[in-house]
Amino acid sequence: MCGIVGAIAERNVVPILLEGLQRLEYRGYDSAGLVVVENARLKRLRSTGRVAELMQISKGTEGNIGIAHTRWATHGIPSERNAHPHISRDLIAVVHNGIIENYESLRDGLVKAGYEFTSDTDTEVIAHLVHSHYAKGMTLLKAVQATLKELVGAYAIGVIAADNPDRLISARRGSPLLLGVGIGENFVASDVSALLPVTNRVVYLEEGDLVELDRQGYRIYDAEGNEVARPVQTSEISNESVQLGNYRHYMQKEIHEQPEAIANTLETACNSHSIMPGIFGAEAESCLSRIDGILILACGTSYHAGLVARYWLEEISGLHCTVEIASEYRYRKSVPNPNALVVVLSQSGETADTQAALSHAKSLGHVHTLAICNVPESALVRQSKLRFLTRAGPEIGVASTKAFTTQLVALFLLTLVLAKQRNHLTAESEHLHALRHLPAAVQKVLDLEPKIARLAEKFASKHHALFLGRGLHYPIALEGALKLKEISYIHAEAYPAGELKHGPLALVDKDMPVISVAPNDALLEKLKSNLHEVRARGGELYVFADADTHMNEEEGVHIMRMPEHAGYLSPILHTIPLQLLAYYVALQKGTDVDKPRNLAKSVTVE
Ligand code: F6R
Repeated sequence: MCGIVGAIAERNVVPILLEGLQRLEYRGYDSAGLVVVENARLKRLRSTGRVAELMQISKGTEGNIGIAHTRWATHGIPSERNAHPHISRDLIAVVHNGIIENYESLRDGLVKAGYEFTSDTDTEVIAHLVHSHYAKGMTLLKAVQATLKELVGAYAIGVIAADNPDRLISARRGSPLLLGVGIGENFVASDVSALLPVTNRVVYLEEGDLVELDRQGYRIYDAEGNEVARPVQTSEISNESVQLGNYRHYMQKEIHEQPEAIANTLETACNSHSIMPGIFGAEAESCLSRIDGILILACGTSYHAGLVARYWLEEISGLHCTVEIASEYRYRKSVPNPNALVVVLSQSGETADTQAALSHAKSLGHVHTLAICNVPESALVRQSKLRFLTRAGPEIGVASTKAFTTQLVALFLLTLVLAKQRNHLTAESEHLHALRHLPAAVQKVLDLEPKIARLAEKFASKHHALFLGRGLHYPIALEGALKLKEISYIHAEAYPAGELKHGPLALVDKDMPVISVAPNDALLEKLKSNLHEVRARGGELYVFADADTHMNEEEGVHIMRMPEHAGYLSPILHTIPLQLLAYYVALQKGTDVDKPRNLAKSVTVE
């Protein structure tokens, strides 16, 4: 999704801006641009291609103040005229992440005042508003402050003026932004990774903050305009660029990294013979003992992890659990249970809807909050009382893989901690043993890769697919369908297998592949009956079964045997072949696996 980088220095900032943008590429974007002050004029360069193209056209451009942006279209199609930065009357340049909700009325007013719009974006109103105030003699700082008062919506912005090469103004509300502190130079960015080549000393700006940067220093103002101090932190995120190695795509690499990612996630939690609440933070023991229910909030793949966890939490810990899609929960008039633990699940920790859902929960009186996240310094981690960091390492592929399976590990640990506190936990050592065995078990499933690659050949010509699962594995069917649709663009739906005869069975014919997750659990016989219903209608079945599931290959029934059954942890193992299937179908179809069309890695707008 959109990314911002800004810099003010003694040296030429163009390489810093471009490298920063390149480091934000994984988030997904459809155009990129930058602007610097060169000989007292704004020099803007924009491209609808990759950042590499922007690099080509930027050769020879120099400036020691500039702002840059990768855009993921919200208002207006991806095009050069809609790419940021946006400029007002050759004087003010702006980059913006987020959405300005009242841009239409602001635009009408600005048009009446004589401003000419050259894009379809909501952002352009910001440039003209700043200009309108600046032209009246306000300082750049005051002009931006006055502008922000007029905006409704979410934003992180960077602003510079052609006639003032010594000031860069940046502000945030609802979108992430941080300041990078250098020596004789300072920076802003929407994601710390963009700044790591130049500094690891960062200040995370708070909601409503505005910062004025010059080369020697910076001043931060809160939403009321009072100058405030915010702590400078040393980022622990590694500057090592993520290498693809021998893999063809990041997604393939990340699927293969799962044994290590799971082992790393378990490392701090699971080395002893028992499991302690402290793994969720210093206050976890007292906080978790006071709760009487769980509310999980998340989006997309992270939401699917929450759905699996509901089965674990209710069955093993005996606590009531609800799982809600964050974008729905934030606007729903719900009846809160302030004694429930609110768990926000997120790979990025930046997802706008999940952040808003957490704020909404707090506004309803929830005080017990836990973030399970893969990015240590992310907003959700900072906003939650308790935290658990999945140690999957940077996930670059847009389709989430290792973040999902490590979230499941974290949620299983949470289940065990809660069950133990409530004296519900039997067989703790067996559970811990199963967890420790998990990386090896995942590795064995990965060995199925060549078989799954062959299976995928049968899907490339299909337009639709149906995924079925039951119980703990129904969310895995949902996740399998999401993976397939997002990277191969094949329309895929998932159903609890028992629902088939209540409607979707009507879709089944010889052209509809039906993929079923069939572990050897208590619901297997029920599932088999559902699969007979499919076969009887001519549907082609692809069954991911455990080794001891008694099902045989026959005409129209393809069985893929999983090496072992993992009991409660089976959903983690059964996810792997579905990730691989989606990956190899996408390869067959020749799609852009790591950057599927229309999608972004971090969804920082609503
Ligand atoms: C799908 C996928 C998305 C994310 C969703 C939430 O492969 O990656 O559905 O899971 O956008 O993102 P996070 O987990 O960063 O909050």
